[in-house]
Amino acid sequence: MTEDTAARDPLTTAPPVRHWPADDIGGTDFDPVLAELMREGPITRISLPYGDGWAWLVTRYDDVRAVTNDPRFVRRPVTERQVTRLAPHFKPKPGSLAFADPPDHNRLRRVVAPAFTARGVARRRDRAQAVLEGLVDGLLRDGPPADLTARVLEPFPIEVHCDLMGVPEADRPRLHDLTQQIVFPSRDTRATGRAKDELYGWIEREIGSRRGRTGPAGAGGPGADDEILSLLAAGVDRGDLGEDEAIGVAGPLQIGGEAVTNNTGQMFFLLLTRPGLLERLRADPAVRPRAVDELLRYIPHRNSVGLARIATEDVDLCGVRIRAGDPVYVSYLSANRDPHVFPEPDRIDFDREEPAAHVAFGHGTHYCTGGPLARMQIDLVVDVLVDRLPGLRLAVPPEQVPWRRHALIRGPESLPVTW
Ligand code: HEM
Repeated sequence: MTEDTAARDPLTTAPPVRHWPADDIGGTDFDPVLAELMREGPITRISLPYGDGWAWLVTRYDDVRAVTNDPRFVRRPVTERQVTRLAPHFKPKPGSLAFADPPDHNRLRRVVAPAFTARGVARRRDRAQAVLEGLVDGLLRDGPPADLTARVLEPFPIEVHCDLMGVPEADRPRLHDLTQQIVFPSRDTRATGRAKDELYGWIEREIGSRRGRTGPAGAGGPGADDEILSLLAAGVDRGDLGEDEAIGVAGPLQIGGEAVTNNTGQMFFLLLTRPGLLERLRADPAVRPRAVDELLRYIPHRNSVGLARIATEDVDLCGVRIRAGDPVYVSYLSANRDPHVFPEPDRIDFDREEPAAHVAFGHGTHYCTGGPLARMQIDLVVDVLVDRLPGLRLAVPPEQVPWRRHALIRGPESLPVTW
């Protein structure tokens, strides 16, 4: 074989499979294994702690956006295989948006779309702000020190999500318990399985009880008609989706609140430990939207990678041939640190000149359903905490902040603060 053909033969260029243990990582540090994989090349091969075999990993910004927008990479077949993965427990539900491909994906997403439009989210803002202000009132009343996670960053999104879904008050604590067990799974996969069964059983009963009594989403303030569980029941009544599918759509939306808790936890850890950042937000409120985008770009939201996609045909990418049936992961974390797109990517810089759009909420078909709602909550948290707690600072040395273990989504378990 000549050097020329060796260089062009996709099989000879396939990189070795690297095991990614996806161990817990302290603080907001970037995963050193992912950093190495990025250095190794734009496309590498990985194996993760659970599932079988290996998968491709695509790390650069342009390639990540290309793969996530390319209909030749699909999700559905992932449900029929044990693709190498991070999560110990894997039992996707029919109807889960994350595992649906167009046109089913569009059909399912359309049913809940009214809750996530700019107008739908704006309608929830006042109530969300009132919840948040109430939590901060309590914090100020009781005085420092306090755990910011327990007092604000956890209850706030949970309340917003329970409102969004239409969860009755009495069921809220138990549901939060269950979603926590799912996002922070124990090594006992049966326990995670039981938590999922209980959550989905509850959703099934709630949707069932709303069948036959729902109308179209109201145009005024938020009400029972634009709660997710009602939208789904109405969708089932109209025949837009099956009951099984409605349950599958609802589960991840209920779990989504945990993402905001942990993302804002990382955000405030960064603001409280990096000199100058918080002062800048205080002194210059106009910079806040830009600053939040830069923090979202920087924050290592999750551990390792999310869900794989499967190639439906051979695809040549970055000099290798991905074969039909191969699983492929993209890393939004590494795309957000691509030095070709974000110069000095490991620096938090609120003054980047015309920065590219970050991909913290994903890209393409599976772009985060809750993105606008999450953003509304994050903007509120930043505004309210920065304005109402001017002396906010960590109450312990940064290295004493405890971090979630065995987590799919990374974040501080508690954030002891004073002011
Ligand atoms: C998907 C990030 C909050 C619901 C995703 C994806 C990312 C992401 C990266 C995956 C895209 C892919 O698979 O390619 C985030 C971040 C959040 C957040 C950083 C908070 C800061 C939320 C919230 C909700 C939510 C609040 C629910 C209201 C979902 C759903 C999907 C998803 C249902 C699957 C969408 C699909 O596959 O079509 N999110 N998310 N997320 N997120 Fe979020």
